[in-house]
Amino acid sequence: MGSEVKEEQAIDVLIMAAGLGTRMRSGLAKVLHRLSGRPLINHVCSTAAVLGPEKIYVVIGHQGDDVKTAVLSEMDADAVEFALQKEQLGTGDAVNSARSFLEGRGSTVLILSGDVPLIRHETLSEMISQHHDSGAACTVLTVRLDNPTGYGRVIRSDDGNFDRIVEQKDANESELAVNEINSGIYCFDTKKLFAALANVKNNNAQGEYYLTDVPAMFREAGDTVGLYVHDDRAEIEGINDRVQLAEMERMLRERTIDRLMRESGVTFIDPQNTYISERAKFGRDTVVYSNVTVEGTSEIGSGCVIRPGTRISNAKIGDGVEILDNCLIVDSEVGNACKVGPMAHLRGHAVMTEGSKVGNFVELKKTVLGKGSKASHLTYLGDATIGEKTNIGAGTITCNYDGKNKHQTEIGNNVRIGSDTMLVAPVKVGDGASTGAGSVVTKDIEPGDLVVGVPARTRK
Ligand code: UD1
Ligand code: MG
Repeated sequence: MGSEVKEEQAIDVLIMAAGLGTRMRSGLAKVLHRLSGRPLINHVCSTAAVLGPEKIYVVIGHQGDDVKTAVLSEMDADAVEFALQKEQLGTGDAVNSARSFLEGRGSTVLILSGDVPLIRHETLSEMISQHHDSGAACTVLTVRLDNPTGYGRVIRSDDGNFDRIVEQKDANESELAVNEINSGIYCFDTKKLFAALANVKNNNAQGEYYLTDVPAMFREAGDTVGLYVHDDRAEIEGINDRVQLAEMERMLRERTIDRLMRESGVTFIDPQNTYISERAKFGRDTVVYSNVTVEGTSEIGSGCVIRPGTRISNAKIGDGVEILDNCLIVDSEVGNACKVGPMAHLRGHAVMTEGSKVGNFVELKKTVLGKGSKASHLTYLGDATIGEKTNIGAGTITCNYDGKNKHQTEIGNNVRIGSDTMLVAPVKVGDGASTGAGSVVTKDIEPGDLVVGVPARTRK
């Protein structure tokens, strides 16, 4: 029976994200602070999206446009709707700001907070199932804490059923002693919720309209209020200050690295001092040393070795790649069996093709390095394409900028670029050509030619 009801019932999600977050002591709205490199609000939105809701409604207020931009950087515009809460008058008022979108809907609305980022979609699904199976008008996600300070307390009646939620600031001594807390996550019958919200008053210690008053109003009206008791404290923890933010960053990192070790077969030499985005993917038998940072949606292949001090951001690394100490690889691609570093810098969609090598103090920007080609020492390659099995000598520079515009350098296959060559773009070097040490190349070089000197002259 329960599952039939569940299938028919549409789910809407509402996320409260209008508050400033005074306790952060910040010029930045709380939900824009970053956890694992992403704004808090984006964590909540992507978890909600997994549930396949009809729509996600985000209540915005403080820095609303920035919150909107952050959300839309990861989500389709038609999956999300923004409701503006002009003044932050409390969580009841926050939900009420979405009234025009939601009030007539025969749906279940799942309410989440933008500052509770680690809640898992599996937990939410279970809670929604219980809500539908029980026929409750509201289900509150609760948890028991050793130290419930700061949270709203869930007060049960003598028979163990829900009675009311009391906020910390309104609670008396015996209520404060209750350790079951309101996570701020709820399912509501949408129509009943908006009917009740119209009657919520702000006669409390904070002078706010509390969403937490609604469940007791339901109970009084004879509706069932369910409690979904969860046992993972970490998931429901809210972020109210920077100490909690740092603690959560640590927790999330630990969770990510544990998962990669257990499920993906990745070795971390020093898990506590390794910083891996929860969205990064790894192949098996890759070994990650201490002080490595992997950001964003980076993908690392199998059998790689990443030595200490390297940062990889939104990059794709193939299989069997060796990355030596202190490299920075951003928005770039490294093919199978490549060698990188130490101290190499890849950026702006640099591509290293299979088996190529970039050595110490080499920078690649918007450059394709062909199969088996090498730039081993002290080189800048920008806006260049380099063919296969070409060797770029130490100190080579593509002079790609003339003060106004960027220009391309094209280097063919089996080319030998001598040490300290300046390639003044736009310029082409044909297959099998060579340059002598210290050449300044201002004209195209034909295939097989050797150029030397300044300015370049050609001879067979
Ligand atoms: C709230 C709950 C409390 C619960 C706790 C769990 C109420 C009255 N209290 O308290 O029972 O234990 O969450 O974390 O609901 N917001 C708005 N507009 C507003 C006020 C808040 O959008 O006018 C947003 C905030 O940006 C935040 C969320 O709602 O994302 C929760 O607000 P917050 O002020 O953090 O509530 P808590 O005091 O934590
Ligand atoms: Mg809070």
